[in-house]
Amino acid sequence: LHYSIAVIPGDGIGPEVMDEGLKVLKAIEESHGGVRFANDVMDWNCNYYLKHGKMMPDNGLDTLKDYDLILLGAVGAPGVPDHISVWELILPIRRAFQQYVNLRPVKLLKGLESPLRYKNHADLDFVVVRENTEGEYSNMGGRMHQGTPYELAVQNNVFTRYGTERILKYAYSLAEKRPKKRLTAATKSNGINHSMPFWDEIVKEVNQEHPGITTNLYHIDALAAYFITRPEEFDVVVASNLFGDILTDLGAAIVGGLGLAPSANINPERKFPSMFEPIHGSAPDIAGKGIANPIAQIWSLSMMMDHLDLPEISSVIMNAIEQVLVDGKVLTPDLGGNATTRELGDEIVRQIYQA
Ligand code: NAI
Ligand code: MG
Repeated sequence: LHYSIAVIPGDGIGPEVMDEGLKVLKAIEESHGGVRFANDVMDWNCNYYLKHGKMMPDNGLDTLKDYDLILLGAVGAPGVPDHISVWELILPIRRAFQQYVNLRPVKLLKGLESPLRYKNHADLDFVVVRENTEGEYSNMGGRMHQGTPYELAVQNNVFTRYGTERILKYAYSLAEKRPKKRLTAATKSNGINHSMPFWDEIVKEVNQEHPGITTNLYHIDALAAYFITRPEEFDVVVASNLFGDILTDLGAAIVGGLGLAPSANINPERKFPSMFEPIHGSAPDIAGKGIANPIAQIWSLSMMMDHLDLPEISSVIMNAIEQVLVDGKVLTPDLGGNATTRELGDEIVRQIYQA
């Protein structure tokens, strides 16, 4: 089993956590024979932008297309506007490769305590399916009358039948495979009166094909509150691009923070490479200090193994992470410890060799 990976460490803590991820891949190769990864590292980030006026070369997407997988750290640096770093690198990749599913588990790992202290582990285990190619991140709109009192900005939401159906079908088929047989869809059809009623209608249509799945449609504001007050209710939560983005930072917060939250940008048809990354950004406030938590990045590798149909290796990685958390001796500051990124990565690698 041989896979090629395009590795984009990015900016800030991106390269710091990526180093630990690459160590984990090497440990998997050495300890769980048969699987091989050929990694090519791309220097596409904000420094590249400052030098070349773009985040990646003109043929960047063509280059990536030939890889089996893409691994991303995080991008964004002071001095480059965030809409440039995100719109010129991450969003084109998600769109060009039809990575229309953004999978984001919200799961409290063994050894951790949720800030929702009255909840136990079984209460905090669900997955958010975020639509990843359209919706509010449309790039359609414009600005007018700049510098006048009549200045205005318009950004359209785009919900196509094709795009909405395919994300909902994916979410329902995932719900079929999970224990609670329950799907929650985020909406806001009371306030957003064209696109969201359309979304709700398609939820109901796709639901017809999955009579065994209990479906709830919640307005996004109430749903955000339920993440705190009754997270045990959720199993699969499906949301538009923006709603899913916001919900998953909240989801990360209830299971220990952004340093622990992974994501997979999936092209389910496997026509194009899928991309795996932590959900956090480049964290300029702690970049360069060597104290970022590498677990989100490493967990994203476990998701990558699931995507490759290598569930045993996926479990080896998760068990190693959880064992280190249960031991509780080597933790980064966000987890209440004083270990460095590298020390935590080394500890996880040690567990992988022992497995
Ligand atoms: P952020 O996720 O970088 O940081 C938010 C907070 O979480 C910070 O206090 C940070 O120190 C902490 N944090 C994040 N990851 C951590 C880790 N692994 N270990 C310990 N603490 C961690 O979000 P923020 O500050 O809104 O954005 C910073 C930059 O990152 C911006 O340029 C933004 O555009 C970019 N960004 C990039 C993303 C990506 O590459 N996919 C996603 C989100 C933001
Ligand atoms: Mg986000």
